[in-house]
Amino acid sequence: MYDLSNIKIKPEPIILGLESSCDETACAVLRGRKILSNCIISSAAEQAKYGGVVPEIASRAHTDAVDEVTSRAVKEAGIELSDIDAVAVTYGAGLLGALLVGLSFAKGLAYSLGVPLIAVSHIRGHLAAAYLDDPSLQPPFITLLASGGHTAILHTKSYFGFEVLAQTLDDAAGEAFDKCARVLGLPYPGGPNIQRAAEGGKDIITFPSAQVRHSSSLAFSYSGLKTAVINYCHNLSQRGEEVNVADVAASFQRAAIDPLVENTILLAKSRGVSTVTAGGGVAANAYLRSTLSAACKREGLKLVLPRIKYCTDNAAMIAAEGLNKYLAGDFAPLTVNAAAQVPLK
Ligand code: KG4
Ligand code: ZN
Repeated sequence: MYDLSNIKIKPEPIILGLESSCDETACAVLRGRKILSNCIISSAAEQAKYGGVVPEIASRAHTDAVDEVTSRAVKEAGIELSDIDAVAVTYGAGLLGALLVGLSFAKGLAYSLGVPLIAVSHIRGHLAAAYLDDPSLQPPFITLLASGGHTAILHTKSYFGFEVLAQTLDDAAGEAFDKCARVLGLPYPGGPNIQRAAEGGKDIITFPSAQVRHSSSLAFSYSGLKTAVINYCHNLSQRGEEVNVADVAASFQRAAIDPLVENTILLAKSRGVSTVTAGGGVAANAYLRSTLSAACKREGLKLVLPRIKYCTDNAAMIAAEGLNKYLAGDFAPLTVNAAAQVPLK
C-alpha cells in the first residue's frame, strides 16, 4: 500500500534524482542542496557512430544502465536505500521511450521505499543547477538557458514562478551547434567539437547574428545562422575551395553566442535584477562562459555559473528541482506519465 499521508517534510531531505531524457542515464543523491553523488552512464559514444541520438538505442542503453547507475550513486553517496526521503525523476521533455525507462524505475523505487515521487521538468532541472553551485542562491535571478532543445532568457521570481523574457523563434542554440558541426565534418556531439575547432580559428567570416533585428522583443533565431553556415560551406566546396573549419567554427560560435550574452545583461539591467545564472549544455561553452563572466563583472552583476558537468544533462539538477518541489509538498501520483514535450512555462 502506497500511502504518503504520514510523510513529514524534512528541511534537509535526502533526494535521489534520476534523468533519462536523452542519451545520458544519470542518478544523483543530494542531502539538501549538498551533492553526495552524481553518476552518469552515457550512450553518446554509441550514438556518435550514427551522427546523432537514435531513440531506440537510447532507450535500450537506459534499460541496461539505470540499475547500475542508481546502485553506484547510492554507494558513492554513502547511504542506504532506506535513507532516501524522495525520488525525483525527469518526466519530460525528451525522447518518450528514454523517459519511460527512468520514470518507470523511479516509480518502482518510490513505491517500494514508500517515499514521495517527484516529477521534474527537464528544463526546470537546468534552471535549478545554479542552486547546486551556490547553495545560498535564492530568487530573483535572470537565467540564460541554452540547450539542445531550448534557448531562452528567464526571470525567476520565486521558486516556482518565472517569466520568459526572450526566446528563440525557431531552432535552439545547441541544435545549431550540432548542425554546423555536422556540415563541418565534426563528430557528434557538435557543441564541444565546434568549441575545440574554434580555439584555433579566427572570427573573420560574417554570418548573420542570432539576434532578431526586426523584433521589438529580444528574440533569437538560429535557422538563418545555421543556413548561412551550410550555404557558405557548400558554395566553397562547389568552387573546389577548402573550408577553413576553425575559422567557420569561431565565426559561427561568436554569431551564436554574443546575442545571448548581450541580451542577458540588457534584461538583467532593465529588470533591476542583480544576479545572473546560466544553464543547459550550451552554457558549458568556454566562449559563452568567458564572455558572460566578463560582461557580468563589467556591469557589477553577480554571476552563478554552474560547473560544466551541471550544465550538460545530469541528475543532480533534477534532484535540486526535486528539492524545491519536495519542500512545497508537490508530489506526483504513480500514474504520472512521460511527456515528449513540456511547455517552457
Ligand atoms: O542540456 P543538454 O546537455 O541537453 C538538452 O537538454 O538538450 O544540451 C545539449 C546541447 C547539444 O546541442 C550540445 O551540442 C550542446 O548542448 N553543447 C555545447 C557544448 N557542450 C554541449 N554547445 C556549445 N559548446 C559546448 N561546449
Ligand atoms: Zn538538457
